[in-house]
Amino acid sequence: MQARYPSADPLTLLPDVDPRRIPRHIAIIMDGNGRWAKQRGFPRIFGHRNGARALRETVEEAGRLGVEAVTFYSFSLENWRRPPEEVQALMLLCVAYCEGEREALLRDNVRFRWIGRREGLPAEVIEALDSVVAATARCTGPTLCVAVNYGGRAEIADAAKAIATAVAEGRLQPSQIGEDTIASRLYAPDLPDPDLLIRSAGERRISNFLLWQISYAEIHVTDVLWPDFDASCLHAAIRDFAARSRRFGGLDESDSAGGFTGA
Ligand code: IPE
Ligand code: IPE
Ligand code: MG
Repeated sequence: MQARYPSADPLTLLPDVDPRRIPRHIAIIMDGNGRWAKQRGFPRIFGHRNGARALRETVEEAGRLGVEAVTFYSFSLENWRRPPEEVQALMLLCVAYCEGEREALLRDNVRFRWIGRREGLPAEVIEALDSVVAATARCTGPTLCVAVNYGGRAEIADAAKAIATAVAEGRLQPSQIGEDTIASRLYAPDLPDPDLLIRSAGERRISNFLLWQISYAEIHVTDVLWPDFDASCLHAAIRDFAARSRRFGGLDESDSAGGFTGA
């Protein structure tokens, strides 16, 4: 299949960023749809619909920049606490998104995935999501992953359950359990951990998103409400990320270059 975003050209799009500093995986907490609609005197679902447009633009730009995967927080386990009309509208939007985007994703060579609990989701939502996953399974371009009915603690609890079952059936010894045992039982174990976590609409919290995977992600919070998020907002986040010094508990290259001199 012909990639629509042939070898991405980050140097043209983001000339001030070293291409080696483009994140491989970006996780996005799309927040602020309700506030965006309220500012305009519209119902909250109007904000969610416009949020879907921002998602499309973000995936396209991420693909052009050579980002391998983007995971979008679309519906959390906690979002069931919202009024039933809003929940139902979000479920319908998810189905409409899958049906409406399928051809564009195939054309753009985007591989679609989804993570979250199946239990509790309406059958038509699961079918719509699974059908786009199957349709785009052979796409070799960027991965677009949506988190639907997703909770970070639930994901870890589900991994723990799978591990306990393997131990009970004698397939695994407790002494063999390490970080990899858990990581390999998460919902999308083949995706690299996110390097960059973006949250729109200004809130400085994680809201139960990818708790295991973001242990060393750099966090970028923007005040922009999600429906207004566009390519230039993505560029700003990547610029911010590229300027960070990621130490992973060690030292900066410049600090370690001089060697240990003692106290
Ligand atoms: C994010 O926007 C979308 C979902 C959580 C589904 P919100 O709906 O949370 O918007 P605000 O935070 O109320 O503005
Ligand atoms: C996080 O946004 C969930 C999604 C974006 C799907 P929320 O709006 O639900 O988060 P809180 O309630 O402000 O923490
Ligand atoms: Mg919100």
